[in-house]
Amino acid sequence: MSSMRSHKLVLFFAISCLLLQEKCTDASVCKESERKALLEFQHSLQAMDSSGDGVLSFWVGEECCLWNGVYCNRFTGYVEKLHLGYQSVVVAGTVSPSLLKLHHLTSLDFSSNDFNGSLIPEFFGSLKKLKLLDLSNANFRGPIPPLLGNLSMLETLRLGGNGRVFSVGKLEWLSHLSRLKEVDLSFTNLSNANGWSLIINHLPLLQKLNLRDCDLPSISSFSVSLTNSSTSLNTLDLSHNNLPSSAIYPWLFNVSSNLVSLDLSSNQLKGPIPDAFGNMLAIQELYLSDNLFILAENQVRGDSGLNEIGKLPDINILDLGEFF
Ligand SMILES: *[C@@H]1O[C@H](CO)[C@@H](O)[C@H](O)[C@H]1NC(C)=O
Ligand SMILES: *[C@@H]1O[C@H](CO)[C@@H](O)[C@H](O)[C@H]1NC(C)=O
Ligand SMILES: *[C@@H]1O[C@H](CO)[C@@H](O)[C@H](O)[C@H]1NC(C)=O
Ligand SMILES: *[C@@H]1O[C@H](CO)[C@@H](O)[C@H](O)[C@H]1NC(C)=O
Ligand SMILES: *[C@@H]1O[C@H](CO)[C@@H](O)[C@H](O)[C@H]1NC(C)=O
Repeated sequence: MSSMRSHKLVLFFAISCLLLQEKCTDASVCKESERKALLEFQHSLQAMDSSGDGVLSFWVGEECCLWNGVYCNRFTGYVEKLHLGYQSVVVAGTVSPSLLKLHHLTSLDFSSNDFNGSLIPEFFGSLKKLKLLDLSNANFRGPIPPLLGNLSMLETLRLGGNGRVFSVGKLEWLSHLSRLKEVDLSFTNLSNANGWSLIINHLPLLQKLNLRDCDLPSISSFSVSLTNSSTSLNTLDLSHNNLPSSAIYPWLFNVSSNLVSLDLSSNQLKGPIPDAFGNMLAIQELYLSDNLFILAENQVRGDSGLNEIGKLPDINILDLGEFF
């Protein structure tokens, strides 16, 4: 009889969780195996306050789902997100592979920490369910592990702002991540990433691409078909790469139909500004400063297609630099 009643109680509890959308603490009791994995991870790092002394013990207590930066599924209790970005702690050490025991992890954010120049762990490539991986501005160093190409669910990849991170060769691994919507590799060293534009063309859902200051190699082969070019791109930053016109234009004008923001500043773009910029009907922000442009005769007269740019419906920012 009493067991019957407790069944009813549990059922009532489960239903009110569903109906009231409350945080059902009972249902989200941290899994012991995951709690251990998180503690192992914590011990593999040294978390300090920003002054660099006093070691913080940032996770204490039994209920790991309530720990800072840990987010569990409300119903199953499994850890789904680990967000340690902007925790204002300095983290040093080598990330423990114990994170692999978090089988339901979909989101890993270590941005704006200080990993003191440690390598991006290869095992991140085995966190198969990840949709978001954000390691930006976290002082990582060394090669981008091509194993990241195994993260087939990934939608957001941010490795930007790690000046000592580089690509060993081409970005071939990136082409396997067909669900990507956002890629930020800004300030990493991609000088070996030949054919990067073709790789980008393999990402049909890509909306935001940031390759600022990556020492990008010029696009060498124009013979390859551009028919599958991504037209989903709306935000593109190729600034500070010293790329010549020939390296950018053939590709750019094939992917630019939906661009809202385009930054090409600080490259080696020469000659008259192509009228094709006037065809970017969605553009709101266009940065072209610090290049080697000259004005064509009709542009001086004011009857070139370029003059259409300023008349585009949504343009907010048009930065042509001091030259103009
Ligand atoms: C950071 O790295 C430097 C150089 O490898 C090392 O000497 C130093 O001990 C590291 N700091 C911490 C807190 O681990
Ligand atoms: C990467 O994925 C491939 C194909 O699914 C698999 O054979 C390989 O073992 C994976 N590598 C790692 C390190 O998970
Ligand atoms: C970028 O990496 C290449 C080789 O991977 C190296 O030769 C070059 O010096 C690096 N550039 C910078 C600015 O560190
Ligand atoms: C373009 O897409 C088609 C169909 O998805 C595919 O068969 C073809 O290989 C792709 N071409 C290129 C150059 O990627
Ligand atoms: C797109 O690429 C093709 C093939 O290289 C080229 O012929 C065409 O002019 C490009 N389109 C634009 C708008 O530049």
